[in-house]
Amino acid sequence: MRILVTGGAGYIGSVSVEAFVAAGHEVTVLDDLSTGHRGAVSPAARLEVGSYGDTPAVAGLLDRYHIEAVLHCAAKSLVGESMTDPAKYFRENVAGGVALLEAMRTTGVRRIVFSSTAATYGMPERIPILETDPIQPINAYGETKRCVEGAIRWYGHGYGLRSVILRYFNAAGASAAYGESHDPETHLIPAVLRAAAAGRDVTLFGDDYPTPDGTCIRDYIHVEDLARAHMLALEATDPANALTGPATGPCEPLVCNLGSGTGFSNRQVVSAAEAVIGRPISVKVGPRRPGDPPILVASPQNAHEKLGWNASQGTLEQIIGSAWEWLRAHPAGYAE
Ligand SMILES: NC(=O)c1ccc[n+]([C@@H]2O[C@H](COP(=O)([O-])OP(=O)(O)OC[C@H]3O[C@@H](n4cnc5c(N)ncnc54)[C@H](O)[C@@H]3O)[C@@H](O)[C@H]2O)c1
Repeated sequence: MRILVTGGAGYIGSVSVEAFVAAGHEVTVLDDLSTGHRGAVSPAARLEVGSYGDTPAVAGLLDRYHIEAVLHCAAKSLVGESMTDPAKYFRENVAGGVALLEAMRTTGVRRIVFSSTAATYGMPERIPILETDPIQPINAYGETKRCVEGAIRWYGHGYGLRSVILRYFNAAGASAAYGESHDPETHLIPAVLRAAAAGRDVTLFGDDYPTPDGTCIRDYIHVEDLARAHMLALEATDPANALTGPATGPCEPLVCNLGSGTGFSNRQVVSAAEAVIGRPISVKVGPRRPGDPPILVASPQNAHEKLGWNASQGTLEQIIGSAWEWLRAHPAGYAE
């Protein structure tokens, strides 16, 4: 398949690009390198530096490389920043997302897989969370993802866009070659490992939540498991696949949570990291972060039933172990 991956120089995108090229697909990466890295793009893929929000440029690229399907991974995704600068998030994620859909519509590219998030659920009413549960984001980031989900849905009804919307829980871990390198790093596992490597304290935000040890509980999913889900989702957008609608006419997105179905508290993550690296990690407890729900755990049942997907690297030790290996091999992140 000829695939365009927006955000393919970012954390999740880079590991998916690696998997796609290994499976023999022709991959074009579109990335503005705002939070991604040139060095994170597999040399077997083609890198185009630019914004997915530039409709004419994207349309040119879709035509030039005869793209059949898009994995839309690129976005701004810092929850805190989305609260202080929502305009940036609506401009980039929503206006940019619609600009990308326009480029696809005008060039007749009708297959998309979208990187959405558990943040769309807001404060969930029950655990584990099902895709049919209410979508009521409590931060601007989650709201922008909901908006793009909505645009994709209506492009499906109006123009026959075939889509899979994937709501990731907490992506973590690394492949041997590609891992997580953000600045600032707001994700717990790389933050814990970086602090451990530097001999610094790691801060946990709040220990008075209604959970067994008082810290937040999250569902971690290995980034290579996400890459496999992306491939299955792209295949599901084939016009011959009824999961994403009839061969012609209006289509409805297939929506799947991607999580392991198991929650781990922040303190459990620190303990698992201590076991992986073989020494204690010093923890500091800070105030709660606004907008952090106590517990977010996915029901991955729909992805299992519809896509035949399971988390195959589900233990915390596997996930943290791979992230630790990558950090040790890349102590300063990517060279460029
Ligand atoms: N990391 C997680 O745990 C997690 C959880 C839920 C959802 N997500 C979603 O998954 C996707 C990937 O997340 P990530 O952690 O890999 O983020 P990331 O910041 O590492 O990657 C995003 C990539 O998009 C690029 N980008 C941003 N704006 C762009 C633009 N206008 N044009 C072209 N490229 C642009 C960045 O340079 C970067 O390479 C995002 O959409 C995010 O919202 C991530």
